Amino acid sequence: MGKNLETNKIFAAILIALLVALGATLVADILVKPQTLAEPTYIIEEVPAAETGNKVTPDEPEDSILTLIEKADIEAGKQVIRKCLQCHTIDSAGHCRIGPTLWGVVGRNHAIVKDFPYSKAAQEKSGIWDPESLNQFLKNPRTYMPGTKMAFAGLKKIVDRANLIAYLKTLRG
Ligand code: HEC
Repeated sequence: MGKNLETNKIFAAILIALLVALGATLVADILVKPQTLAEPTYIIEEVPAAETGNKVTPDEPEDSILTLIEKADIEAGKQVIRKCLQCHTIDSAGHCRIGPTLWGVVGRNHAIVKDFPYSKAAQEKSGIWDPESLNQFLKNPRTYMPGTKMAFAGLKKIVDRANLIAYLKTLRG
């Protein structure tokens, strides 16, 4: 009988310990329960330069890309393209690296380099790489082509894009 009592005490102790643990978990859950916010606290939006009143990018000229390409500095374009050469070649044999060759890209249809594994986004975007579309794409690849594999942030300065596109135009046979 006395032995049974001891066993009961031990069981009771274990039971209490379990209840306390369970209780603590419930209380902790209630206390720490994450509140889902109706709206995200921070919304990060890029404010277009035009709306901010003061010109954030004083070196962004008013000229259109076509005008800028006409008076572009091709030598400067050769410097800009260095940013592309870690992924692209500009060789006429059409070799691809991480990206398709840029030889003859101006005037070429989107996503037509043979054997290059384009993303679905690139395959589905029809069009020609003319100066305007290149300008849009190179400004922000993911805005122009959401889902593109081209992991490149973009060239912020329109003058850089103009010089680069002018140089790209020379890359043809
Ligand atoms: C980090 C690697 C990387 C860098 C840097 C990069 N590209 Fe790309 N580029 C790619 C990949 C990958 C693709 C294929 C995109 C796809 O399939 O979605 C691509 C696609 C392109 C295309 C479309 C070609 C076609 O045949 O449709 C053009 C044009 C292009 N890149 C130009 C440039 C230029 C110009 C630069 C430099 C300013 C540049 N890229 C920098 C990786 C890169």
